[in-house]
Amino acid sequence: MPPVENHVATSRLRTGKEYRELHTWIDDADPKIKTERHDITRIFVFGRRFEKQYGQEGLNEYLQHLHDDIAAKFEHLQHDVEKMTGDILAYFGVKKGSALNYTVQQGDIDIMKNAGLTDADLAHCLNVAKKAIEIAQRTGVRLDLELVGRGAFFHDLGKARSHEIDHGKIGAELGIAFGLPKALTDIMEKHIRGGMSEAEAKDLNLPVKNYTLSSLEEKIIIYADRLVDIITDGVVQIESEREAEDRFEEFIRNVPKYYKNQVTYERYLGYHREIQELMKG
Ligand SMILES: [Fe+2]
Ligand SMILES: [Fe+2]
Repeated sequence: MPPVENHVATSRLRTGKEYRELHTWIDDADPKIKTERHDITRIFVFGRRFEKQYGQEGLNEYLQHLHDDIAAKFEHLQHDVEKMTGDILAYFGVKKGSALNYTVQQGDIDIMKNAGLTDADLAHCLNVAKKAIEIAQRTGVRLDLELVGRGAFFHDLGKARSHEIDHGKIGAELGIAFGLPKALTDIMEKHIRGGMSEAEAKDLNLPVKNYTLSSLEEKIIIYADRLVDIITDGVVQIESEREAEDRFEEFIRNVPKYYKNQVTYERYLGYHREIQELMKG
């Protein structure tokens, strides 16, 4: 289930208020009490109480909390079922995720536009999606191309509200409010600095948790993001897109805009080497 902070964040986006007291009450630390407070047969009792205390908006936020929990539970179930069927198919020698291509969908473009993304940021996201899919195809590994394409496209959703380091966190909050899958909001949140440790997040005043990337799909997105920056920023002069890959190490070490610190540098270098190795093979 989403933690209290996620509920607080979505309430803030929807209403401008956090309703922290309400969400903390529902997600009581005692599992037994928590279960009771999520019992949908109690909606009429608890709903009345919240309506009295906070008005119609509070009632809505209580209902929305239950709704978001159920939606998240189903998403987990769906993910588990997909994984299980994938494992079974793999056992019988049938490979899953065998789509050969993916194109960004108009509905997703509309979401980004409605969120208020500028044309320049939208173009960047489209470029990253295109580059990520190209790289995923070149690896020859059977990957979830939809995750690669959509994850890359949505990675900068948060730029609709901020161009600072918090745009990952804000993007994930917006994504949750728009009902996007967790796999996508995770990428939005984790793409800052290419997948930070808890200690780095703390140093940057971001919610303290582990942002480490967990799949090749995510690494390809992060790598594509940096490549697109190198190709389109105009900070370095290159003749072809290929040169961005060939001189990647040099650029991320020597260009201040790309060299954030040693840890980030080594992380990006790791993705570069791992993915280039796959593309060679
Ligand atoms: Fe970004
Ligand atoms: Fe980006």
